[in-house]
Amino acid sequence: MKTFSLLTMALATMVVGPVHADQKLVESKQCLGCHAMAQDGAAPAFKRIAARWQGRPEAEDVIVKTIRQGSAGTGGPHWNKAKMPDQAERPQVSEAEARQLAAWILAQ
Ligand code: HEC
Repeated sequence: MKTFSLLTMALATMVVGPVHADQKLVESKQCLGCHAMAQDGAAPAFKRIAARWQGRPEAEDVIVKTIRQGSAGTGGPHWNKAKMPDQAERPQVSEAEARQLAAWILAQ
């Protein structure tokens, strides 16, 4: 019984782990100061961004660029909202972190 519950915990950590890590990254980079998950506010909601980019092969690359350079980096703003600022006004996001965030957003 003890072995079984340890195994279950190990499996749960494997499944939940990466998602949790990305959530932490979104929090630490202060994305949620402007973006909510499901409802538009100052910025489009992550679920709506995911829906808009669904099935577009260029999605991840464009989103990485927006995350690193703000919406001006991709010819935006595209959502009839404010501009997403570049990194001068936000915590720095590396290329690798931006890739991780883009993949996470597209999975919402
Ligand atoms: C100061 C507010 C603010 C912060 C902080 C912010 N964003 Fe944004 N973001 C916006 C706004 C406003 C837009 C809409 C810009 C537009 O219309 O192109 C946007 C757009 C985006 C888009 C592009 C959607 C598209 O379809 O082109 C992505 C992806 C995104 N944000 C991700 C992030 C991530 C990830 C973070 C954290 C690293 C973050 N944002 C932090 C305000 C913000």
